[in-house]
Amino acid sequence: MKTVRVGLLGFGNVGSGTYDTLKMNMGKIERETGVTFSIDKALVRDPSKPRRSEAPAAIFTCDAYDIIGNPDIDIVCELLGGIEPSTKYMLDAMKSGQHVVSANKAAIAANYPELTKTAKDNNVEFRIEASVCGGIPVLSCLTSVLGANDFSEIMGICNGTTNYILTQMTDFDLEYADVLKVAQEKGFAEADPTADVEGLDVANKLSILIALAFGKYVHPKDIPTTGITAITKDDIAAATARKCKIKLIGKATKHDDGSLEYSVEPVELPAAHPLAGVSNEFNAVFLTGNAVDDLMFYGKGAGPLPTGSAVAGDVLEIGKAIAKCEACDK
Ligand code: HSE
Repeated sequence: MKTVRVGLLGFGNVGSGTYDTLKMNMGKIERETGVTFSIDKALVRDPSKPRRSEAPAAIFTCDAYDIIGNPDIDIVCELLGGIEPSTKYMLDAMKSGQHVVSANKAAIAANYPELTKTAKDNNVEFRIEASVCGGIPVLSCLTSVLGANDFSEIMGICNGTTNYILTQMTDFDLEYADVLKVAQEKGFAEADPTADVEGLDVANKLSILIALAFGKYVHPKDIPTTGITAITKDDIAAATARKCKIKLIGKATKHDDGSLEYSVEPVELPAAHPLAGVSNEFNAVFLTGNAVDDLMFYGKGAGPLPTGSAVAGDVLEIGKAIAKCEACDK
């Protein structure tokens, strides 16, 4: 059986969730793909640090270039977060002929044109399903089974941390700071939760959604963005009295003349709106395509295993393609 070798840049929540997903389901994966996947190396800062997932100490390295450019590693998964050095790592891996999977929405959104061009120029795969809405397979659908549509609107709850905070504040009358702490403990929030609560994380995800749905690149800094830090318990009580819920919504609309309008902001949705029922760390995305009409995706947008599921899914797709290519060459 073909073995596809994988290196993880990062073994935090997403890296360990990817490791656990592959380990938990490897028997089924091997039976269905005819390929086995081996995580041979994982980049960490401190190999002795206790981790949420049990991996052999031998896979840990503190040198990213033990993985990047290593001819024995087929796929590099960039799961570090932050724009640099993550972008350089991805570009270097592509230039050395390695396929790249990334969950890093900040780096992807900031450098989408360069990353996609470099992947194309070097004839390698660049898959990014985990970068938007964790376990929800919205990006793959946009580019595959929904690819025949012309989209007019995309609207979603794309951040688990803020949705968790708003839900808990609404349902249990809790204070913002206490709930943020729990979201961090559960592994939803970014290392620096400013990106979550100020809406920047959603702007990054909306930039990626716009690129894939509308074929246009909008830098996240150019998306008008308001987060949830100014939302008070009084705002929530007032919305509840009006039978509404406050949700952080990322939205992009294509007008008839082809121009795009986009924003990230807290929106008061009537309780009957389908997005109003999306609670806690769950995310949802509404799309409108001219063939498929309205479509809603719903699932866990954050957390080690849901996000690990998306990274592992991309790894599998690349592994299957590598195996198919080798079979054709024989
Ligand atoms: N911090 C992000 C969230 C993680 O809360 O949704 C997933 O992108």
